[in-house]
Amino acid sequence: MADDLVRFSVAMPEDLLVAFDEFVARRGVAKNRSEVVRDLVRDALIEEETAEPGAEVMGALTIVYDHHAHGLQDKLHHIQHDSFGLIVSTTHVHLDADSCLEVIILRGEATDVRTIADRVLGTKGVKNGGLVVTTTGNMA
Ligand code: NI
Repeated sequence: MADDLVRFSVAMPEDLLVAFDEFVARRGVAKNRSEVVRDLVRDALIEEETAEPGAEVMGALTIVYDHHAHGLQDKLHHIQHDSFGLIVSTTHVHLDADSCLEVIILRGEATDVRTIADRVLGTKGVKNGGLVVTTTGNMA
């Protein structure tokens, strides 16, 4: 029953529909209007669910930093050991002679995950990055 698809109609301004169809086309041939609408609804529900402070979430924190910045790798390592209970895994990629990329996978309460992400992103020498948060729960 829960997997059955239910049809409904949506009214929207023509300009918005044209822009939406272009968006669907950029997602590639495997996606059609219905699938993209479902993706967007899931995104909205996940955003709302993971905004709750006590929500259990998964986070993927990506950072790029200067390999030569003094003491930076030690600081980042220290922050992660401080919160070892929240860190599921860390992947390190040597981008080139100077830069490193790390993807830190986190799991825990939304507030704790965001706090550690802010701490990492706010560390001097971290040049770029961002946190993507998703739910740990079942998705329709
Ligand atoms: Ni490296």
